[in-house]
Amino acid sequence: MIALIEFSLPGETLVHGPTPVVHVGHTARVARLLGDRLNVSPLSLQPQTTYPVDYEAVLRRAKLELTGQALPAIQPLSSTTLQAPIWFLGYPIWFGHVPRVIATLLTQVPTPPKVIYPFVTHEGSGLGQSMADLQRLCPTAVVQPGLPIRGSRVARAAPAVDHWLQSYFDQPSIQSKEI
Ligand SMILES: Cc1cc2nc3c(=O)[nH]c(=O)nc-3n(C[C@H](O)[C@H](O)[C@H](O)COP(=O)(O)O)c2cc1C
Repeated sequence: MIALIEFSLPGETLVHGPTPVVHVGHTARVARLLGDRLNVSPLSLQPQTTYPVDYEAVLRRAKLELTGQALPAIQPLSSTTLQAPIWFLGYPIWFGHVPRVIATLLTQVPTPPKVIYPFVTHEGSGLGQSMADLQRLCPTAVVQPGLPIRGSRVARAAPAVDHWLQSYFDQPSIQSKEI
């Protein structure tokens, strides 16, 4: 069993400088591509307190959360799904790191995942320091090489997604849960 979990913010987003409003966040769009290929429905991680639509306001709140190493409260996710040993986990890069709601999820989940396939959207930082973040937050997990997608190019992400997923499909031992 696998879990496909994403955190993603609709609203004002960064695209080549300007901040147009999007109704589906970039990371959520990558999650949909993955869901189609893995035949699972993405679960959307939501904070208890919704982030603002206004981009500058999101930056301010996210900066405070990062500086304070906060663990913002999150809405509960299906406990059955969270027991999956393999997680595809998606998030945007925030100031070079995982958003702090990802830290909340990984530190509070009763059964941490054994393998994490991280998929990331960003606007220039690539994976940033988020691979190290994940390993620190979930020391027992095998963190597989992440997939970085530039958010403003998400409409053309399918070939990169397929290429990256091959590393999962090429590991029958992981798929058969012999991990
Ligand atoms: C609070 C905040 C911090 C960000 N920090 C970075 C960053 O350090 N590096 C980067 O490349 N992009 C950064 N971005 C841009 C987002 O990673 C990028 O727009 C991403 O695709 C948004 O994904 P989403 O639509 O799924 O939320 C930041 C965006 C926000 C809102």
